[in-house]
Amino acid sequence: MCGIFGSILKKGSAAPIIHAGLKRLEYRGYDSVGLATVDDGKLFIKKDAGKIDDVHRLLDLDAMPGRIGIGHTRWATHGAPYKVNAHPHTDCREEIAVVHNGIIENFADLRAELEAAGHVLKSKTDTEVVAHLIEDSVKSGLSLVEAVRDAAKRLDGSYALAVVSTREPDKIVCARKESPLVVGINESEVYCASDIPAFLPLTKKALIIENGELVVLSEGGYEIRRLSDWSVVPREPEVVDWNPEMAEKQGYPHFMLKEIYEQPDTLRNTLRLQNQFLDLMTEFLDRAGEVFLVACGTSYHACLAASYMFSKLAFLATHPIIASEFIEQHGRSVNIDSTILFVSQSGETADTLAALDHARLRAATVLGLTNVIASTLTRLARVYVCQQSGPEIGVAATKTFTSQLSVLAQLALRLAKKRGKVSHVEIEFLEERLEQIPEFATTILKTQSDKIKALAQKYSKSQCFFYLGRGISSATASEGRLKLMEISYVPSIAYPAGESKHGPISLIEPGFPVVFICPKDETHRAVISNIMEMKARGASIIALCEENDEEIKRYADDFIEVPKGIPEILSPILYVIPLQLFAYYMAMERGLNPDMPRNLAKSVTVK
Ligand code: F6R
Repeated sequence: MCGIFGSILKKGSAAPIIHAGLKRLEYRGYDSVGLATVDDGKLFIKKDAGKIDDVHRLLDLDAMPGRIGIGHTRWATHGAPYKVNAHPHTDCREEIAVVHNGIIENFADLRAELEAAGHVLKSKTDTEVVAHLIEDSVKSGLSLVEAVRDAAKRLDGSYALAVVSTREPDKIVCARKESPLVVGINESEVYCASDIPAFLPLTKKALIIENGELVVLSEGGYEIRRLSDWSVVPREPEVVDWNPEMAEKQGYPHFMLKEIYEQPDTLRNTLRLQNQFLDLMTEFLDRAGEVFLVACGTSYHACLAASYMFSKLAFLATHPIIASEFIEQHGRSVNIDSTILFVSQSGETADTLAALDHARLRAATVLGLTNVIASTLTRLARVYVCQQSGPEIGVAATKTFTSQLSVLAQLALRLAKKRGKVSHVEIEFLEERLEQIPEFATTILKTQSDKIKALAQKYSKSQCFFYLGRGISSATASEGRLKLMEISYVPSIAYPAGESKHGPISLIEPGFPVVFICPKDETHRAVISNIMEMKARGASIIALCEENDEEIKRYADDFIEVPKGIPEILSPILYVIPLQLFAYYMAMERGLNPDMPRNLAKSVTVK
C-alpha cells in the first residue's frame, strides 16, 4: 500500500500542496517519499528513503518549481526502501515521471523485454517499467495519454498511476485498476490522490475513478475514458461532507474498523506476491529436516492454522511455537537441519527476534514472513516474503492476520504441488477458491455486520466467553478470543472443542456464552456433539456456520453466516472476520477505544 498525490494549479507552486497531501496519506506507507514537478519544459525530482518529515528536512520538498506535479509516499513491496527505489520513477531520457500504488505482477518479464531493447532501469521496483513503456510509445509518435493507455494495457496486477511529462507539461495522466484513485476539483485547481481525505482541506468536490478507467487532468478540469474501448465517461463530482477526524479514518470511526474493512483489498494483494520468493521458501520447507513456525500473539495463531495447512495439504509436520518459549523448549535440539519460519507483522517483536538470534547461532535455516520490508526480520532471514498489507495502525492485528494466513496457505499449496500430495483437481479447486477469498470477505462484511453489532449488544454484559473449534478452527477460536480479550477486556477462553470436556466445561452455567466455529469440514459432526454437550448445561450457543447449515442453526441460540463452499484449509481467513467485528462492537458497547487498548503496544520490542 502506498499513497499518491498530484495537483495542477492555475498559479503558484504545486510542491507544498503535494507535500501536504502526502502527509495526509502517510498512513498508507512511510518508508520513502518523492515528488516530481514540471516547469519550463524541465522535470524536477526530489526523493529519498525515510519518513516525509525527515526527507523534507533534508531536501526541502516545498522548494520545487512548477504548477504541476505528482508525489508518492511508499510502503516498500518490490525493492528495499532506498533512494533509488523511491518514486517517482523516470524513463531513460528523464522526461517522464511516474508514481504508482499497486503491484505489477508481470514486471520481471516487462523489465527483461525493455532491457533487451536497450532501456536502462535504475531501480529494483515493479513501477519503473511503466515509465519506460510510456517512453517507447511516445518515441513512436503517440501522445502521452495514448502512451499511458497502451502501457496500462500491458500491465498485469493492480495499479493507480499518475504520470507527468515535459513533452506535454500541462497535464497529469492517471489510470486505475484495483488500487484506489480519486480526483478532487475546485474552481482553480485539480488533484488526484489515493483517497479523498488527502485533498479534503482543499476541496470537498470529489469523483471516484473506477477500475479500468484513465483520467486526464488539466487546468480545464478532467476527462475520464474507459481503457477497454476508449469511450468518454461522463461523471460529475460529488460533495463530501467529512470532518477532519472522519477524514483521517476515511469515514470510519476507528482505524480497527477501517482495517477490518480493508481486508478484501489486502487479501487481493496477497494473491499477487512474487512467485520467485514463494517458490524459494517452498524449496527450503521441502528440504527441511524439521520445521518450526515461531511467532507471538496473533502471528502465532497464524502459525497454528498453518501447521494444519502444511500437514493436511503437503504432509509436512511442523511445530508451531510461541516465540518466548522457543529457546526454553527447543533451544538445545535446534540445529543445522532445522528450518524455522518466523512470522511477525512488524518484523521487530523482541521475543521473536530473540528466538531468531538463537536459531542463527545454532546454524538453523531462518525464513521470514512479515509486513515490513527492511525490518530486522527481513535483514536476518535467509529468505523472506512480504505480506503486503500496508501499515496497520489499530493496535489489534486484523488485516495483517488474514494476509499472513493467505500467504501461508499459498506456501502449503505450493509445497503440496511440489510433493505431489494433492490431486490436480483438488489443486485447481483450492486455487480457484483462494482467488475468490476477497469476494467472500466482502460478502461477510456486507451481510453480517449489522447482525454482529446486534449480537454485541445482546452479550455486552457477559462476564466471560468460551471460543471453541476443532481442527484448523481451533486456531480461529484462539484468535477470536484474543481479539475480544485485548480490546474489550472481557476474560475469555479458547480451546480445541474436543478438549473442553477435560476441565473447562465445569465453568458452564445457564446463559454462559460459547462461540463455536463450525465450518462444514471433517470436524462438523464432532462439533455438533460438542455443541450438544454445552447446550445440555445451559450454555448460550453463538455459532459461526455456513449459510446453508440448517442443522447448526437449529441448535444455536444465535448464528453468523459465512458463504458456503469455503475449503477447510482456507476457512480461518474468513471465519475470523466476524470475530474481529464482534470484538470491535463489544468494545463499542463497553465504551472502549479499540485502537488503543490499555497496556498494549503495536510492536512489542521488550522481552
Ligand atoms: C494482537 C496483536 C499482537 C501481535 C504480537 C506479535 O492483536 O497485535 O498479539 O500479534 O505482538 O506482533 P508481530 O506480528 O509484529 O510480531
